[in-house]
Amino acid sequence: MKLDFAPMEGITGRDFREVHAACFPGVDRYRLPFLSPAADRHLTPRQRRDLEAGPLGFARLLPQVLTKEPGDFLWAASALAELGYETVDLNLGCPSGTVVGKGKGAGLLRDPAALDRFLEAVFAAAPLPISVKTRIGLEDPAEWEALLPILARYPIRELTVHPRTRRELYRGGVHADAFLRAAATLPFPLYYNGNLFTPADVQGLDAACPGLAGAVIGRGLLADPALVTRCRGGVRSRAALIDFHEELAARYLRRMHPDGAVLPKFKELWMYLSLLLPDEKAWKRLRKCARWADFHPLALGLLRDGDLLPEADFFRIDQKSVNLMPAQSV
Ligand SMILES: Cc1cc2nc3c(=O)[nH]c(=O)nc-3n(C[C@H](O)[C@H](O)[C@H](O)COP(=O)(O)O)c2cc1C
Repeated sequence: MKLDFAPMEGITGRDFREVHAACFPGVDRYRLPFLSPAADRHLTPRQRRDLEAGPLGFARLLPQVLTKEPGDFLWAASALAELGYETVDLNLGCPSGTVVGKGKGAGLLRDPAALDRFLEAVFAAAPLPISVKTRIGLEDPAEWEALLPILARYPIRELTVHPRTRRELYRGGVHADAFLRAAATLPFPLYYNGNLFTPADVQGLDAACPGLAGAVIGRGLLADPALVTRCRGGVRSRAALIDFHEELAARYLRRMHPDGAVLPKFKELWMYLSLLLPDEKAWKRLRKCARWADFHPLALGLLRDGDLLPEADFFRIDQKSVNLMPAQSV
């Protein structure tokens, strides 16, 4: 079973992907955060930089497009093909209020007939094979029954299912039954996504769905960057964690302001990484830091000298309702 790093807007940019791959072997593909085509159909210099394949190469990267306009999707797909990409992913899952309000992301699931028309238009003219990442509905898991036959009509290269509705955001359990319905009825390679936090979770999925093409892991890999390395039989070394942390910081600091940009980026990362520490108060101390110069030695000290749990403690989140949604998506 293939194991991909999930696309995570604001987190898994090019520096993050390259540093992660260098420190933690085993991830098959890194999925790029969504590209939202601008009205002028132009890639900014920042987008171009993030889209360069770099040492990973195009085969280990999957770019994604977020739009409800077939013309914009096709423009983005052509731009990606020109750059060298082999497949383009369509986002049918983003739950952000602004995105859904504009009918994009999970908003495209609201009207199955309109989704059908969108898919017909993009599959008729796509310059690249299209893969799809979707939720199972907007409000109610029962919507999945109407969406399945529509998806089945198109030659989707790979389908990734996050078995939650938009209303459920990233909280609570997943609808395993909805995923199994997809596995039983859809003809194309299927990827599972959602709540894989330990190697045992990944093994359990593999055992429950032997024909699965793969799994896509997001928060589990942020909390334990060695999760896939461990799934492949490797170990999580403290040295690799420190190298990852320090190389990522060095790369960000080359391009971004320490307090204005690097600090918030590291705080978002540590919201997950701190689940690896038995000391639940560590995150509170980190969150309070107002300057990178205060944050960095504290964070590095925790990685160097602090105890590390065998598995990231996601249970803590359910217990205390810590919101792990990105700020812009609430
Ligand atoms: C901060 C953040 C950013 C995300 N950005 C994207 C994105 O750009 N494209 C996408 O398809 N999903 C995005 N997602 C969803 C993840 O790819 C994934 O589906 C979700 O985290 C559930 O998987 P997990 O339980 O393994 O974390 C994002 C999620 C989070 C928390």
